[in-house]
Amino acid sequence: MGATGLPEPPEHGTSALPAGTYDGVCVFVTGGGTGLGRAIASEFARLGADIVIASRKPEHLEQGEATIGELGARVRTVACDIREPEQIAAAFDAATEAFRLPGVLINNAAANFPVPAEDMSPNAWRTVVDITLNGTFFCAREFARRHLAAGTPGSIVNVGASYAWTGGPGFAHSAAAKAGVKNLTETLAVEWAPYGIQVNGLVPGLFPHDDMTADIRGNLDRTNDKDACQPALRVGRLRELGWAATFLASPYARFIAGHTLVVDGANWQRRALTNAPVVTVREQMGKGPFGS
Ligand code: HXC
Ligand code: NAP
Repeated sequence: MGATGLPEPPEHGTSALPAGTYDGVCVFVTGGGTGLGRAIASEFARLGADIVIASRKPEHLEQGEATIGELGARVRTVACDIREPEQIAAAFDAATEAFRLPGVLINNAAANFPVPAEDMSPNAWRTVVDITLNGTFFCAREFARRHLAAGTPGSIVNVGASYAWTGGPGFAHSAAAKAGVKNLTETLAVEWAPYGIQVNGLVPGLFPHDDMTADIRGNLDRTNDKDACQPALRVGRLRELGWAATFLASPYARFIAGHTLVVDGANWQRRALTNAPVVTVREQMGKGPFGS
């Protein structure tokens, strides 16, 4: 039999959980106006959730609002920089006023750009760690404090990346921050399970989309056939990630906590003692010698 890869999933627009699973639940998605966050928010919306999208840029918020609105779900957008705890608190106030205290938090927002480590400025490092790791913690903290005060349960899904385990040449800042996110998931799951708050991680593999930043897109475009480079012989379909998120946060996954679910067609385990010949990050990025 020839190698045909992992089969295609069910059609876009179908759901993995019973209709109405999220009726009456407010789902707060950081970075929900673009890319994977928008896809995740859409799957919650299909299952009845009221969606709150929090991010910085009005054009992203408008795009997310339009997408969720077209699905017939209720949606509220809030301008928020997750590096700023007081902005996060204000965003949760707005969500609670619009709907009710969010029952699900999707910590999806992150920052990333490819850069050789030796070229990275201190502020570039700080910026990525601040958004990806600190922002994730600040949002989780706000969510948990409100649920602890109210005596209500909740569910947090932290979106990660597989270079949390492997390291990420060309992405030292993001890989270190995502390793922090994975570790944080494990700590918070134990601290908050006694109060009914589940904390899990969700790691996407390669999910190309139209909202990718020019830096990330340019980096990916250096690989010609992205499907052939995956054991699945295809990249991920956005709905596959959305379905995983809706399951992890759902009543059907209540005993899953402190787990990081990888949705990548086994790509990150694809290692051998003899990999392709080494090409330095500088060469990959078309950069000259350091200091030249
Ligand atoms: C080197 C860079 C840089 C680049 C910015 N910087 N871009 N350094 N190469 N391409 C440096 C700046 O020079 C500055 O340092 C510092 O980073 C902060 O830059 P600002 O533009 O002032 O930051 P800010 O306006 O806060 O914007 C944050 C950002 C931006 C991270 C730089 O790209 C952003 O808003 N990103 C959000 C979306 C995003 O990153 N999505 C990717 C998620 S994908 P100096 O020293 O000059 O002050 C992902 C995983 C993908 O995470 C996995 C692979 C498929
Ligand atoms: P994306 O489209 O660039 O999304 C990033 C989102 O984060 C944007 O909506 C952005 O909105 C928001 N954001 C960034 N900084 C913020 C800040 N300071 N405050 C609030 N919001 C902020 O990227 P993506 O590909 O969808 O990635 C989504 C998640 O998946 C990230 O956690 C990423 O690390 C992870 N991931 C993606 C892939 C992939 O193949 N795409 C692979 C592995 C992991 P604003 O600009 O409006 O603030």
